[in-house]
Amino acid sequence: MEIIIKENGEAASEAAARVVARLVREKPNAVLGLATGSTPLVLYRELIRLHKEDGLDFSQVTTFNLDEYAGLEKEHEQSYHSFMWKNLFSQINIHPEKVHIPDGMADDIPLSCATYESTIIANGGIDLQVLGIGSDGHIGFNEPTSSFASRTRIKTLTQQTVTDNARFFDGDENKVPHHCITMGIGTIMDARMNLMLAFGEGKAEAVAAMVEGPVSAIMPASILQHHPAAKVFIDEPAASALTLSDYYRWVYDGKPRWQQDA
Ligand code: F6R
Repeated sequence: MEIIIKENGEAASEAAARVVARLVREKPNAVLGLATGSTPLVLYRELIRLHKEDGLDFSQVTTFNLDEYAGLEKEHEQSYHSFMWKNLFSQINIHPEKVHIPDGMADDIPLSCATYESTIIANGGIDLQVLGIGSDGHIGFNEPTSSFASRTRIKTLTQQTVTDNARFFDGDENKVPHHCITMGIGTIMDARMNLMLAFGEGKAEAVAAMVEGPVSAIMPASILQHHPAAKVFIDEPAASALTLSDYYRWVYDGKPRWQQDA
């Protein structure tokens, strides 16, 4: 795991965007795995800027989103479908048919999840997966005790996640769906690179447990210790509980720029 600590979320997101942009330039038909929530917003803003100002071309890119609330129509303003079109897709030149987001309204959920998995494989697998981390350590919506071998499926959110996400639903926990469709941890681990972002003091404990704690299903993100190419972009507050933060800074600062963006 490579830990990249920046002075703030803006700088961390810009550094992460350079990694995504480099991949898209080197492999124009790259397959990106994408996340929603507050964390990737600046990353997406930066990708939009690179598209508009530097011609970063998404016309051949395929995307797969991590998750979607079960029971929310695509058109619902808090669906992850709406989130992605509002915050990224409508502002870059991506082809709508290359965008994949789990269907929260599928009649046959197991079939829909199996099709999602086979579509990822049919597209050659995910080159780079963007991740955030829940305060309880979830990645995607793989809540604590999710199987490390899990694939796309329906999950129940923890009370903690419902509370955390109520801010998107007028602060009303009763409006937050309790179920979701999420890529599994096995699906995430199959991505050729995982790029995690985490900002703010509220993520500090989860980040420290993920990076320096034992690998355990109670802390789903800790499985990334086993991933051959996991990069973790964090700001100073999110780094505040790490024991070896000076070492991580020393490693990153000692790299040539081309390697920092690779
Ligand atoms: C979202 C997702 C979640 C979030 C996590 C952090 O697609 O998969 O794992 O990344 O809940 O959410 P924020 O960024 O809102 O703190």
